[in-house]
Amino acid sequence: MSQKVTVSVIKADIGSVVGHSRPHPSMMEKCREVLAEGRACGLLQDFYVTRVGDDINLLMSHYKGENCSDIHKLAWDAFSEATKLAKKMKLYAAGQDILCDAFSGNIKGAGPGTAEIEFEERGSEPMLFFMADKTEPSAYSLPLSRVFLDPFTTTGLVIDPRAKKGFDVEIHDVVDSKKVVMSSPDETYDILSLLGDTTRYAIKRIESRVGLGTACVVSTDKLNITAGKYVGKDDPVCICRAQSGLPAVGEYLQPYMNTMLVAGWMRGSHYGAFYPCAVEDSDPTYFDGPPRICCIGFQLNEGRFQGLEPMDSAPGDHTPIDFFAGQVWDEVRTESVKACKMIRGHGPFMPAILSPDEMEYTTRPAVLQQLTPRFQDL
Ligand code: F6R
Ligand code: MG
Ligand code: MG
Repeated sequence: MSQKVTVSVIKADIGSVVGHSRPHPSMMEKCREVLAEGRACGLLQDFYVTRVGDDINLLMSHYKGENCSDIHKLAWDAFSEATKLAKKMKLYAAGQDILCDAFSGNIKGAGPGTAEIEFEERGSEPMLFFMADKTEPSAYSLPLSRVFLDPFTTTGLVIDPRAKKGFDVEIHDVVDSKKVVMSSPDETYDILSLLGDTTRYAIKRIESRVGLGTACVVSTDKLNITAGKYVGKDDPVCICRAQSGLPAVGEYLQPYMNTMLVAGWMRGSHYGAFYPCAVEDSDPTYFDGPPRICCIGFQLNEGRFQGLEPMDSAPGDHTPIDFFAGQVWDEVRTESVKACKMIRGHGPFMPAILSPDEMEYTTRPAVLQQLTPRFQDL
């Protein structure tokens, strides 16, 4: 058994009430039941079940390390049981992210998204969980670049002696399944030259360069490639550790004050502006979005999540801080809707739609095939 604590977030879209809006409360309850059994048998230290839009997110803490088959199976069982309910209720896209008939050792490649982070719990351990709906993993590349590479966002990079030493950034090529680790600040411009191509590169993991361990991890399972065909967007999560030599909570949040366009809303084929909001406000309400970004926070206490609930409350029974709930984010929400309206004005034209290779839905090959005999040389 590892001494280090592991926090795993495993998420899936397994069916919604009214199109792709929101999992039914009974599905969330079923996930809680299954994870409570996992806690009762000693597998988990603690858990919290939440959601963003139509995605159920299972937050789990344990001492079993990353990629633990038993932990992945527990999440798989929770999603499978909740899928049964979704199917009974004839909910939309019931079981969408359950791509295999049976669990075979690791949940990666089986449909759900995963982000896991193993570390030595510090004297005090503030954690943030970003959860996005209707977008893809590279949506985090811009905000995380601002947090870890940009001193005009993170003043800590200038005035905190440990943060100033920089960070190692693991970048994934999600198309070719390759990875490279690059260091900031030395290679900042080269890092950005890759990450700017959001169709291919995404940040997977960022490590402290002064031995504080992993600062953040993103789920990068690209579902369309996993399944060989598109079956659902990634709707990625990002786990972050904050403070004391790592970016402060507020530094992690700051980039979301900028209105950012991300890929993936409506039929996985459009650009839309990130809309930071409370979990409760994360149902898609305008053209399948706007793409939601939520952020909840806990303190970790000996492997258990501590929110605003009493210290002795039951495992799983938590009240996190919901960072994007407050009025301070109203302004960016208004701007996001304005940006979405503007880009929607382009209808089915680029740049409102993604590049042809990235479109989840397309009729173009069939249209072109039909037109082949009618095309003439210029
Ligand atoms: C959201 C999502 C939607 C669908 C769209 C069309 O998670 O997937 O944008 O792509 O609602 O769905 P279908 O083709 O099932 O009617
Ligand atoms: Mg969906
Ligand atoms: Mg979703």
